[in-house]
Amino acid sequence: MKFYIATDHAGFALKAFVKEYIISLGHEIIDLGPDSDARVDYPDFAKKCAHSVLDDKGSYGILICGTGIGISVAANKIHGIRAALCHDAYTAAMSRAHNDANILAFGERVVGRGVIESMIDAFCNAEFEGGRHAGRVAKIEDGCSFGSDID
Ligand code: RB5
Repeated sequence: MKFYIATDHAGFALKAFVKEYIISLGHEIIDLGPDSDARVDYPDFAKKCAHSVLDDKGSYGILICGTGIGISVAANKIHGIRAALCHDAYTAAMSRAHNDANILAFGERVVGRGVIESMIDAFCNAEFEGGRHAGRVAKIEDGCSFGSDID
């Protein structure tokens, strides 16, 4: 698999660890910055990663900020991106299986390194199940413009 990774300053300390782990699994990972822990704005790095993933069909992204919230919310503003804020192996696996997530996001201040390894394993090993989930993902891509009468 091919990954792009980006963080903000609050996710920077984990970036080297995550890159090394992805490479140890035999995957490719491209670092989109930042290059230091100097303060930056997470939307800028979410945008870089999102566009790289969209421009490189079949690739995935990893986004890290302090909580994972801001950077995933920002990435999800870009059409075609399904950035999943995950906290454990279960949510990471389900993000692929049910949501066809193309970006794994998490918070440096939230999860430890063992959990991160298990999330990466789960994300890499799970596959989108399609079927009934495909229609739901299509609705997301349609901008959820299905009205307010849905139950
Ligand atoms: C930075 O202090 C922090 O706000 C950011 O990394 C992130 O947690 C925002 O959602």
